[in-house]
Amino acid sequence: MEWPEIFQVATCSLGFITLSKALIYFVRWVWIMFLRPPKNLKTYGSWAIVTGSTDGIGKAISLELASKGLNILLVGRNPQKLEATSKEIRDTHGGSVEVKLVVIDFETINGEEIVRKIREATQGLDVGVLVNNVGMASPYPRFFHEDDLEFMEAIIKVNLEAATWVTKAVIEGMIRKKKGAIVNIGSGSCSMIPSYPLCTLYAATKAYFWMFSKCIGLEYKSQGIDVQCQVPMLVATKMVKLKTSLFIPTAKDYSKGCVRWFGYHESLCVPYLLHSLQCLLLRMVPHSLVNWHLMRQHLYMRKRGIAKYSKLKALQESQVNNNN
Ligand SMILES: NC(=O)c1ccc[n+]([C@@H]2O[C@H](COP(=O)([O-])OP(=O)(O)OC[C@H]3O[C@@H](n4cnc5c(N)ncnc54)[C@H](OP(=O)(O)O)[C@@H]3O)[C@@H](O)[C@H]2O)c1
Repeated sequence: MEWPEIFQVATCSLGFITLSKALIYFVRWVWIMFLRPPKNLKTYGSWAIVTGSTDGIGKAISLELASKGLNILLVGRNPQKLEATSKEIRDTHGGSVEVKLVVIDFETINGEEIVRKIREATQGLDVGVLVNNVGMASPYPRFFHEDDLEFMEAIIKVNLEAATWVTKAVIEGMIRKKKGAIVNIGSGSCSMIPSYPLCTLYAATKAYFWMFSKCIGLEYKSQGIDVQCQVPMLVATKMVKLKTSLFIPTAKDYSKGCVRWFGYHESLCVPYLLHSLQCLLLRMVPHSLVNWHLMRQHLYMRKRGIAKYSKLKALQESQVNNNN
């Protein structure tokens, strides 16, 4: 064979392999998104634990899980909001599911206490599903050096430590039963886009979930425990303070999509259809362009955030002065 022919064969083979890979990826995506049946989550156990379940995605997931007939252990910091969520679940699903509440403020409690409280609350319960959802972010994007120490302590505790300790409290029971599903709510900010400037601690703490899920997923796969890190892009909740749009679903719509994926062993997944398309489009854009755009957008949001919060501070100070 002559060199030009060898070159032609090599180029064709490479093209064939690349196209086949893309086709396999696409067929797999269609299967998972549209055709794969959801798992019967009750086979893992009759109870699900959801952290940060009093608002946003966590509350919507709790309601969705209750609609599948699972009893829910709600974990949150605000007793009134916990009661309200519990009532909403009972009103929606009648007497068909049980609800229990645990008050934990992950900002102020240490790991040992979290483990003790969760173990106490789950005593005698057949826990099959754990959703590590609790999370927080800074009120607006800002430079790393502008984050105050109190916020830094809090975000590390809430975003990173909470899931670690709650998983520690629950996993031994799952190992004994040889079944369980753990779902960690990560974020597109650390896995689907190349960077997230001015929200450094948020993105970095969320990146922990990805590796945590990959490792425990491998460690306990043979024990019947399915671990998944789910990645939302933007969802209209109080955390992001954005209105719904094509790519920004309500928490309710998001949770319907995301619960369908529970129980499948996937270290990282984007369960919401339009988020998945968004990620595909993002992959085609050079990283430098995405970084440039995010930096510009977040600098703009920072400016607006500073203006809004200094106005609020001034108002509070004047109210205090008036009261004195
Ligand atoms: N929304 C998005 O666009 C988006 C995107 C990617 C990833 N995520 C992730 O999705 C998860 C849920 O976010 P979300 O948007 O639903 O947020 P959210 O609406 O602010 O809800 C957060 C939940 O966590 C609870 N929580 C916050 N701090 C807590 C603490 N110290 N102790 C106990 N509970 C606490 C909140 O309780 P209260 O009701 O008392 O406030 C609330 O129930 C987070 O892990 C977030 O990082 C969200």
